[in-house]
Amino acid sequence: MSIKDKMRPLFRTLDGGLFSEKAGKADVGDAVSKLQAEGGTLMCWADPFYPDRVIPQKVLERSVEVIQQGIACHYTPPIGNADLKEVIAKKIERDNHIKVDPQRNIIINPGSDVGLYFAMTPFIEPGDEVLVHDPSYPSNFLDPQLLNGVVVKVPTYEEDNYRLRVEEYEKRVTPKTKMVLLSSPNNPTGRVFTREELTELSEFIIKHDLICVCDQAFEDTVFPGHEMVTMASLPGMWERTVTVCSCSKGMALSGYRVGYIFANDVIMDAMYATAVNIQGAANTMVQMAMIPAYEDTSFIKEYVAEQDFRRRYAYEKFNAVPGVSMALMESGFYGWVNVSRLGDSSEITAYLAEEAKTLVNDGKFYGDQGDGHLRIIYGVFADRQKSLDGIDRLCAALAKRAAQLGITE
Ligand SMILES: Cc1ncc(COP(=O)(O)O)c(C=O)c1O
Repeated sequence: MSIKDKMRPLFRTLDGGLFSEKAGKADVGDAVSKLQAEGGTLMCWADPFYPDRVIPQKVLERSVEVIQQGIACHYTPPIGNADLKEVIAKKIERDNHIKVDPQRNIIINPGSDVGLYFAMTPFIEPGDEVLVHDPSYPSNFLDPQLLNGVVVKVPTYEEDNYRLRVEEYEKRVTPKTKMVLLSSPNNPTGRVFTREELTELSEFIIKHDLICVCDQAFEDTVFPGHEMVTMASLPGMWERTVTVCSCSKGMALSGYRVGYIFANDVIMDAMYATAVNIQGAANTMVQMAMIPAYEDTSFIKEYVAEQDFRRRYAYEKFNAVPGVSMALMESGFYGWVNVSRLGDSSEITAYLAEEAKTLVNDGKFYGDQGDGHLRIIYGVFADRQKSLDGIDRLCAALAKRAAQLGITE
């Protein structure tokens, strides 16, 4: 029997996943390193200001201090440093409107990707169905399967700006449904789900006695005029929601690999008990350095203001290209651009790599509803002009393609 045959059937099919050599498949794979080596532009990494140095001075200073003090070479508990959890609890109270016990309701993760997987782990049994809105973050479609669960996609539609339609959830619920998985705000559409939508969805979740795993990785980058509503704060939801957060996006500290989960005591007991098995402790130096970041989060406001400028610029520029359209993003630092009139989105992704020397993400990786779309990270580079130049280059290449196809409006 070959090694592969000894694997679980799902793992036999994965073939390198995002890291496979197949061009165009990756947002982190070989196509990236190849284009980077050739001096191209990456607008495919959901990493704010990449690759430039952007770190709050106090975080930098604390990082160095902790290393010099000689404590960075030791573990923290696998559930996280107690002082960090204290300051995070204050943020949760302020931003998420939930009062948590820092030492009972929070666990620090080495990044929210593992946090997301961990959040589902206590609940998914073989064959359990997980409702995942489509389009959404690609891990949402694989994580439940890694746990032997079944993903059931729930479509959302561009025509109403990807509103969560409870009737679509109702159509797909079965006795095997265990969980609703939500990216809120949503990557890649940038939707900030309204209180009304989330309330309706929460009523559905309660009615069918489901668990909600809510990924709020982008909660800090929400633009004025949109209310960030935390699912766990809605009536009846604290009892059944696991919320996953990250310092990667809003704080632009992706390389620090710190995320956290908050949930009620019963759920946390299961997580605290298995933390060492599933995730281990996050890096000590970064946990300590994150304390001043959470003590004063005012730097996030500056980042949001910068991304606000860029999203408006992108909105204007992409919508001016014949055959191309996008909504004004409500959160995040990327655009979700409809290029379906110009052809297949995989082909256009490859065309832009060649013509504009810029890598963007093919919308197909975000679900069936992503077909015909590109995700374009304009949050790259600290230098605003470089980012705007990247947008201009993409627009010029798309306009050229539109002209070749005879599309004029
Ligand atoms: C929606 C969403 N959730 C979670 C993550 C994982 O972030 P991290 O592991 O850096 O915290 C990402 C990263 O792109 C994301 O887009």
